[in-house]
Amino acid sequence: MIDTIAQYIYNRSMLSFTGHKKAVLRQRLEERMTSLELPNLAAYWDYMRQNSHEEPMLFDLLTTNETFFFRNGKQFDYLRQTIVPFIEEERGREVIRSWGQERPVSSQSIMKLRILCAGCSTGEEPYSVAMTLLDALRYPKAWDIEILAGDISESCITFAAAGYYENTRLKGMPHSCAGKYMRRTADGATVQDEVKRLVRFCRLNLGNIINGEPFPGFPPDFAGFDIIFCRNVMIYFSVEAQQQLVDTLSRSLLPGGFLFTGDAEPLHLYDHKLEAVREAGCLIYRNAETRKDVLSV
Ligand SMILES: C[S@@+](CC[C@H](N)C(=O)[O-])C[C@H]1O[C@@H](n2cnc3c(N)ncnc32)[C@H](O)[C@@H]1O
Repeated sequence: MIDTIAQYIYNRSMLSFTGHKKAVLRQRLEERMTSLELPNLAAYWDYMRQNSHEEPMLFDLLTTNETFFFRNGKQFDYLRQTIVPFIEEERGREVIRSWGQERPVSSQSIMKLRILCAGCSTGEEPYSVAMTLLDALRYPKAWDIEILAGDISESCITFAAAGYYENTRLKGMPHSCAGKYMRRTADGATVQDEVKRLVRFCRLNLGNIINGEPFPGFPPDFAGFDIIFCRNVMIYFSVEAQQQLVDTLSRSLLPGGFLFTGDAEPLHLYDHKLEAVREAGCLIYRNAETRKDVLSV
C-alpha cells in the first residue's frame, strides 16, 4: 500500500519517496492516520480518494519548507550588481530602437519584468527578489513588474501572502532592507505594501506545469519569464522528473533570461542548452539566445 501511495504522490507532484525516503513517507502518514483515527494505510488510501481536501493536506505534510531571506547571498549580489543593470540598459536600448520603427512598440510592453519563484515556500525568496529589484532599479516606477510566487503547499502560500515574519525568521535580512521594506513590531516585522504589490502568490504544482498546464494567471502562449528562481525544489524529485523540470524551466525562460538554482542543484548533471554564468561564482544559468521580440503578455 505504501508503494501505491508513493506512486500516487509522484504522479501528482513529482515528489519522490523511494529508497530511504520511503521511511519518511511512512512516518508522516502514520502521524496523519493517528490524527484522523484511521487504523491503517488502506483506510487512509480510501479516505484520501473520497476526500478531495486531503491531497493538499498531504502535500503540506510531505514538503520540506526550509527557507530564509536572501538565502545564498551571492546570487542576490549578482542580481543586484549585474543582472538588473544589464536588463535596464538592454531594455532602454529597445525602447529607443522602437521609436525608429514604422509601428513603434509601446514602451510599456518593453518595460515588463516577469519573474517566477517556483517553490517559494513561505515567501522569503520572492520578497527578497522584490526588495532587490526596488533597490537596484534606477527607476522602479518605470517598470511593470510581476513576481509570480508559487508553491504546492497551501499553508505556505497563506503564510507568505500575510507577509508577517517573527524575529527568528529575519536572519539573513540586511538591516538596510529591514529598515526600508518592513514595518517592525516588537516580535517581528511585516513586509511593506510597496514590496507586496510586486508579488502574486498562488498555488503552483510544478508537476502540472511539467505536464503542459500554463502558469497560473498566464495564457498558454505566454512567452516566458525574464528570471526564474527554482531553488532547493528539484532535489525532492526523481532524476527523471528533475530532467523534465529542467526542460520545462528552460522553455519558460525568455531569450537572455536567467535561471537561479539551489546550491545542490548544478545543471551540468542534465541535458540543457543554458549557459552557466561562471563569473557570478554561484549557480546562475542563462538562456543565451538573443532577445528578438518584445513580450506580448
Ligand atoms: C526547501 S523549500 C525551498 C524554498 C525556497 N525556494 C528556497 O530555496 O529557500 C522547497 C519548496 O518547494 C515546494 N515544492 C515541492 N514540490 C513542489 C511542486 N511539485 N510544485 C511546487 N512546489 C513544490 C515545497 O512545498 C517547498 O516549500
